[in-house]
Amino acid sequence: MQFSALLAAAATLLATASAGGFSKSCTSCRLGSSNTLYGCLCTNDAGKEIYNIVDLNKCMVNVNGQLIARANGDFGPSCTADGQNDQYTPCWTCGNGSGTDQSCPTLDDFLSNQNGALVCDV
Ligand SMILES: *[C@@H]1O[C@H](CO)[C@@H](O)[C@H](O)[C@H]1NC(C)=O
Repeated sequence: MQFSALLAAAATLLATASAGGFSKSCTSCRLGSSNTLYGCLCTNDAGKEIYNIVDLNKCMVNVNGQLIARANGDFGPSCTADGQNDQYTPCWTCGNGSGTDQSCPTLDDFLSNQNGALVCDV
């Protein structure tokens, strides 16, 4: 009885831990000039590197100048990439209602590599 409860708890923990974490198995990541298209080489289950692109408009929203994970948040129209292209934490300048703020979201918190495909877990 206790052991199965422990197993259930462990399974829940594993399910939670599987969100995000793409940086461990994706390299050469960068934002394209479109401002929201983010591409990487990601290793699939067979060990092959696959180049693919995710539209971050499907993953983030601008809330008062700060980017946070949200499905179909469509942040692009109110933010501009700063051009530095830091591979795992790119920065944008985002409108906040009165001015602009810089926001550098940790993409690893919500982007995952699912068998070579970049997927946002939001
Ligand atoms: C918006 O950005 C301006 C300029 O950076 C800043 O002074 C202001 O405090 C920001 N407002 C909010 C609500 O974050």
